[in-house]
Amino acid sequence: MMTNKIKLSPMAFGLWRLHEANLSDEQLKDLIVACLEQGINTFDHADIYGGGQAQIQFGRVLAKNPELREQMIIVSKCGIVRNPEDNSGLTPSYYNTSYDYIIKQTDLILEQLQIEVLDVLLIHRVDHLMDYKEVARAFRDLKAVGKVKHFGVSNFLVPQLDAIIKEFPDIEINQIQVSVDHLEHFKNGVIERCAYHDLTVMAYSPLGGGLIFSNQYDNNLLKTKLEEVKDNLSLEGIDQVMLAWILKHPLKIVPVLGTMKQHRLMSGFKALDIELTHRTWYELYTHSQLERMP
Ligand SMILES: NC(=O)c1ccc[n+]([C@@H]2O[C@H](COP(=O)([O-])OP(=O)(O)OC[C@H]3O[C@@H](n4cnc5c(N)ncnc54)[C@H](OP(=O)(O)O)[C@@H]3O)[C@@H](O)[C@H]2O)c1
Repeated sequence: MMTNKIKLSPMAFGLWRLHEANLSDEQLKDLIVACLEQGINTFDHADIYGGGQAQIQFGRVLAKNPELREQMIIVSKCGIVRNPEDNSGLTPSYYNTSYDYIIKQTDLILEQLQIEVLDVLLIHRVDHLMDYKEVARAFRDLKAVGKVKHFGVSNFLVPQLDAIIKEFPDIEINQIQVSVDHLEHFKNGVIERCAYHDLTVMAYSPLGGGLIFSNQYDNNLLKTKLEEVKDNLSLEGIDQVMLAWILKHPLKIVPVLGTMKQHRLMSGFKALDIELTHRTWYELYTHSQLERMP
């Protein structure tokens, strides 16, 4: 087992939606400080977020406030080649995890964030043309020159996890979509494989990307159950129930919150003090998969 494994804060703040939120640098700084004050020191980026603008703005704030950098763990990702017509990254052009591309993108990440060393680099998604030996070589070289301290992957399923860990045993993280509204990885063996390999699981879209708060959301069974649990526990919102549901897992899964609103971040962090019973956890689990109601 690895001895110098990175210890993330129990939740993280994700910057995917930063660019579209149109925050001023001062507002972004306030969000960062609010996270740090609550002990949330892990910040999740990717080279494609906002077409690079998320990292550029974050880097500007760090350059103006260098004391913030010392307190944080910065995660970033590469491997998705941006579609110039879509800054969201939802419709990538293609994937590239070649040695040269990983090295080039890491340099870009460091430059945009205006930092010397990246704490964690993840391969963003599965690339069917991935040469696992070459990814491992890039990771080893980035570590040797001191540009990246820790490494992981994102959206990797069991076979890909095994393949990369065979070539690079020091993989520490798999960032995957996990929420009470997205049970895929409880059913396909990924979470168990992460346990087997002693990986930290980061859960992205822990509130299902916010769809549950909109009129288009169609699983009334789950939403009603979440409201019921919220009321029974006298909580402020169903976001807290959804986050407590993830935090209940014994792997200490790290939810990556995506809101750009400070009061919602603070509300979410309170889930760290909520302990759901096994019974409630399973009631929510089953309500998530029952037939959807109109
Ligand atoms: N590795 C990957 O492939 C991958 C993929 C997706 C995301 N990620 C990471 O995960 C992070 C989080 O993902 P996410 O943004 O989808 O997470 P999320 O927390 O599930 O969803 C955030 C969205 O929900 C809305 N929201 C949150 N609380 C709300 C409330 N109480 N009422 C109404 N709307 C609410 C937010 O809007 P407001 O801002 O208006 O509050 C925002 O649009 C990203 O920033 C990124 O770092 C990684």
